[in-house]
Amino acid sequence: MADLPLPQGIELTSLNERFRRDPYAVLRRLRDEAPVHEDTQLKRYFYTRHDDVKDLLRDKALWSDPRKANPGTFTREFLGRGDEEPSMLMMDEPGHRRLRSLVSKPFTPGAVEKWRPRTREVVQRVLGKIDSDEFDLIADFAGPMPTVVIAEMLGVDPQMHADFKRWSDLSVRVAFNPFPAEDELKEGEAARTCLNEFFSKEITLRRKDLGDDLLSDMIRAEEEGEKLSEEEIITQCNLLLVAGNVTTTDLIGNGVKALLDHPAQLKKLRENPELIKNTVEEILRFDTPVTNSGRIANRTIEIAGCPAHKGNSLTTSLAAANHDPAIYPDPDKFDIERDDTHHQSFGGGRHLCLGAHLARLEAQEAILALLRKYPGLAHSDKGFEYASVPSFRGMSYFWVSTRSH
Ligand code: HEM
Repeated sequence: MADLPLPQGIELTSLNERFRRDPYAVLRRLRDEAPVHEDTQLKRYFYTRHDDVKDLLRDKALWSDPRKANPGTFTREFLGRGDEEPSMLMMDEPGHRRLRSLVSKPFTPGAVEKWRPRTREVVQRVLGKIDSDEFDLIADFAGPMPTVVIAEMLGVDPQMHADFKRWSDLSVRVAFNPFPAEDELKEGEAARTCLNEFFSKEITLRRKDLGDDLLSDMIRAEEEGEKLSEEEIITQCNLLLVAGNVTTTDLIGNGVKALLDHPAQLKKLRENPELIKNTVEEILRFDTPVTNSGRIANRTIEIAGCPAHKGNSLTTSLAAANHDPAIYPDPDKFDIERDDTHHQSFGGGRHLCLGAHLARLEAQEAILALLRKYPGLAHSDKGFEYASVPSFRGMSYFWVSTRSH
């Protein structure tokens, strides 16, 4: 193994079949042999040790705005395309703080907890539509559920929910793909345009009649005399869809798969449903829906004797950090009673995932309700397939059977 060249470029993304099948094996090798790896193809430094990833994400001096990365680097080439306003994910201070503080209130643990009963209703509604012995967990359950929740939070007409899902899926597929095909790019742009026009109309309607929803909150939001412009509101709405939907779908999908793959853990959860919170944390650690995040060096940074210079792209592998044996004993073991379920899956520092509490709540409610409805839930012969969206890990389909064989 040691004399094989280290993986580069696409080999470090889910566009590569081997990485898609088992990213943890590829990442283990990097962590062991080159914890700071220079990916010369995609022009970035790739970090795999838990403590390096954690420190980089929490380093508040580092940048996130792709326009600050050197020409030719991964961040500048692949994340800095397009001429739209950057979302807060790709903004630095003071703009980032301003935007985040204007939209963060509905995402605090207390505010999110108030959504538990509504989330429970949505889960029941989506589950209620499933009426066959075999179904695709992604298309029929884990996919629609988070879109309906965020659409309800934004106050979107339920009749629009299916369009919403389609547009958000299409735009995510392009937003995070360093090598989109020409038609994918076109489809993604068309979906973006539909979303933007839709939000613009909704904002005009809301301005006349503010309600008790997230969109109205954003229009109302005022922090130190500042309001969000229409363009900023639209950008943040897009971010909520893009950042929140596929990720939560993947969390539910990866979680159900981990449980079906580990029958003793599944049995334990069925017998002790109060373990659901820890179970969701372990799912996030064990098979994170977002495999990478990143920053841009604002100065020379030396880790493990490898310097990265100002303007270089730094990719932090959350998936590798979560499986670092220096932190987690037996890291590849799925154990819902683990004490050390802390993980890097929501990133950290200034850009720590805003939707973390919402994602947790949705996954807790979705998985418990699914297991309650189907005491015999099992893998189906129709199988599953991992999707090839770089930086994300989730399945494009995952067939389950409601009766164990
Ligand atoms: C399992 C589900 C999710 C995962 C794994 C996830 C993961 C992440 C990660 C890794 C980041 C970047 C953090 C960093 O670089 O330090 C992030 C940022 C963000 N996420 Fe999530 N996310 C999830 C669900 C959600 C949901 C449901 C929402 C909202 C509805 C959301 C909204 C955001 C926003 C707005 C940011 C940007 C925050 C900032 O730049 O200040 N996410 N998320």
